[in-house]
Amino acid sequence: MDMSRRTVVAGAAAAGVTAALSGTAHATGGRHPVKELFGRLADGTKVYRWSLENGGTRMKVLSYGGIVQALEIPDSRGRYRNVSLGFADLDDYVASSPYFGALIGRYGNRIAKGRFTLDGTTHQLSVNDGENSLHGGERGFDKRVWDVEPFTRGSDVGLRLYCTSADGEMGYPGTLKSKVTYTLTRGGDWRIDYEATTDRATVVNLTSHVYWNLAGEGSGSIYDHEVSIAASRYTPVDAGLIPTGELAKVAGTPFDFRRAKAVGRDIRVAHQQLLYGKGIDHNWVLDKGITGTPEHVATLRDPGSGRTMRMATTEPGLQFYSGNFLDGTLVGTGGAVYRQGDALCLETQHFPDSPNQPAFPSTVLRPGQVYRSTTVHSFGV
Ligand code: BGC
Repeated sequence: MDMSRRTVVAGAAAAGVTAALSGTAHATGGRHPVKELFGRLADGTKVYRWSLENGGTRMKVLSYGGIVQALEIPDSRGRYRNVSLGFADLDDYVASSPYFGALIGRYGNRIAKGRFTLDGTTHQLSVNDGENSLHGGERGFDKRVWDVEPFTRGSDVGLRLYCTSADGEMGYPGTLKSKVTYTLTRGGDWRIDYEATTDRATVVNLTSHVYWNLAGEGSGSIYDHEVSIAASRYTPVDAGLIPTGELAKVAGTPFDFRRAKAVGRDIRVAHQQLLYGKGIDHNWVLDKGITGTPEHVATLRDPGSGRTMRMATTEPGLQFYSGNFLDGTLVGTGGAVYRQGDALCLETQHFPDSPNQPAFPSTVLRPGQVYRSTTVHSFGV
């Protein structure tokens, strides 16, 4: 969290509204995660919801899909809103969620025709997006029930989420053991650490699919939100949203977000790539490349509320999706209908279809190696 945010929280406390803001003893204090029953799946499996809070950020996380059901942060006057899209009930997540708040695996984004060849063997994956495989196939990690373990470590609070995917699940080779750690820091940052191991060579690309609206979920479109992305290139796609392999320059295109720009400013430009995506639905090639520690890559700002989110990651790519397929058929957490452009996703990742693109950074994981990826979200005003 940046200094301006800390000042605001302190100011709110001084005004005597701390208790109203947080419902706990201290607005900025860490709170060991609290568990409650959220619902049951058709087969009777219990799904729990964990509530945690630290540094002025509050989160609700489901054991189903590791879903961030709510993420609440204050605006410049200390007013909290849930800034991530979701549902009030488990049934809606099971029936029709477009990955609201979910963990994505084994492979975030698309793999062409759901097929790739590794070490001479061709693997056919579950196909769930036209002829392609999207976000891990028919039953990806977003639909798995994760084992969740809460922790408090120094001034941090968080959850460790575990999921084992059997050899051959959704067509992927190897038993994949994943561990994802959600940490809320004393400064109110939300950090995600992903780890995975395998017993057979495979491909992995884990990410998180939160739909952000910093004005609050259900409050309308994000076309006024300003986005900046530290990327000079992006990966253009074909009509099926599979990268052509080119790393195209953003300069002179609607995809230039090197300086902060409103999402809606160029979204109606008649550019072939925007037609394919029905808006923005592309992977940016981050200038910093793969890094050992998270580096700043993007900033999101809602001018209305003043809320900001800065993102840092170890990953080389960022999928920026402007909520194009939200079509007014889903009723969100707060009871409002979600329509096109009501939220945006910023998914840190390796590039789409990397298993079929030898020139892209590799997503192969072999026995003995540990897959690691970290993304940090810092909120402020
Ligand atoms: C993809 C979109 C897709 C959406 C699913 C995004 O990550 O880029 O193409 O429609 O997920 O809700």
